[in-house]
Amino acid sequence: MAPSETINHSHDCEKYADGVDWDELGFGLIRTDYMYTMKCTDGENFSHGHLSPFGNIELCPSAGILNYGQGLFEGLKAIRTEDSRIMLFRPKENALRMKMGAERMCMPSPSVEQFVDAVKRTVLANKRWVPPPRKGGLYLRPLLMGSGSNLGLGPAREYTFLIFASPTGNYHKGRAALNLYVEHKIHRATPGGTGGVKSVTNYSPVYQSQKEARGKGFSDVLFLDSVTGKNIEEISAANIFILKGNVISTPTLIYGTILAGVTRKSIIDIALDFGYQVEERMIPVEDLLEAEEAFCTGTAVVVNPIGAVTYRDKRVEYKTGEGALCQKLYETLTGIQTGRLEDKKGWTLEI
Ligand code: COI
Repeated sequence: MAPSETINHSHDCEKYADGVDWDELGFGLIRTDYMYTMKCTDGENFSHGHLSPFGNIELCPSAGILNYGQGLFEGLKAIRTEDSRIMLFRPKENALRMKMGAERMCMPSPSVEQFVDAVKRTVLANKRWVPPPRKGGLYLRPLLMGSGSNLGLGPAREYTFLIFASPTGNYHKGRAALNLYVEHKIHRATPGGTGGVKSVTNYSPVYQSQKEARGKGFSDVLFLDSVTGKNIEEISAANIFILKGNVISTPTLIYGTILAGVTRKSIIDIALDFGYQVEERMIPVEDLLEAEEAFCTGTAVVVNPIGAVTYRDKRVEYKTGEGALCQKLYETLTGIQTGRLEDKKGWTLEI
C-alpha cells in the first residue's frame, strides 16, 4: 500500500456524506474523499496504484495531454440498491474500451483487472458519496493521460491513469425530453478519426454548436456525418436511437465515427429481448424525421427521451412519457442496475 493510502475509516460509520442534497443531484462535480492514481513509466506496464485524498494534480507544462491532447476518459457509475448493496455496471466493458482507445492514441493502458480493481477501490474509499437508492449514482471518471513532458510531436514517455468520483443525478434535469437541433455545418467526427474512441479531444469541439443551439432555446445538438452530411451520427454526449414500427435503429459503428457506448450495447440487447428488430446502420436524417420515437443513451444520460428535433426549418415531435418504448427501456435498464430486476445477463458487479 502506498504511503498516501490511509483511508479515514471514521467514514465507515457515517453512511452518507453530509451537506449533499441527494434529491437535487445534477451532473456537476461534487468533490469526494479519494482519487486513485497509477503510473506507467516504461511505456508498457502500470504499477503502484494507490488512493490519495482528492485534489489537484501536478503536470509539466509540456505534458502530452496538455499540448497534444494525448488522453482518453471513461465514465461509469456505482449504484446503491434498495438493500444498500453497491453495484457497478459492466465495468469490464469500460476497461476494454479504454484499451481500444489507448491503441488508437498510442498509449499503454491498464489491464482489465487493474482497471476494475482501481474502480472498486475508488468506490469503496468514497462509499459515503454513493447516493441513496433511486437518487442517482456515484459517477466514476477514469482518465488516461500522457503525463510525460514532450515538446516535439510524439507519444509521451510517462502515462498516468487516474480515477475520480462524484455523486450525480440526471444529466438533463428531470430527464426532460430533449429539444434537439440538428447541426448541419459543424461535424463531430470523421471516418478514420477518433470519434469512435473516448478521446478527450472529441468533446470540446461540440461546444460551439451547443452554445449556438442553446442560445436559440434548444437543449442539445445532434451531429450529421462529415462525408455526406446526410446521416445522423451522435448527440454531443450520447448515442441516438430511433423507433419506427417494430424496428429500432441506431447509427453503425463501422466507420469509426460513433462511440461504442456501453449503454448503447445494453439497450440493443434489451430491445432484442423485448422482440424488436434492431438495426445498426447509416440513418438518413429523413428517417429521423419520420420516426415515431427517438431517444438517447449513455452512462451520463442513461436513456433520455427526445421530444423534438429541428432540421433546417423543419421541426418534428415524438412520442414520450409513460407509454413510450424509451421509458420501458429505461425502467428495465435501471431495474437491472439497481437490483430491482433480476440480472440474467451477469452485467452487474457487486462490490
Ligand atoms: C458519459 O456518458 O459517461 C460520458 O462520458 C459523456 C460525458 C460527455 C458527460
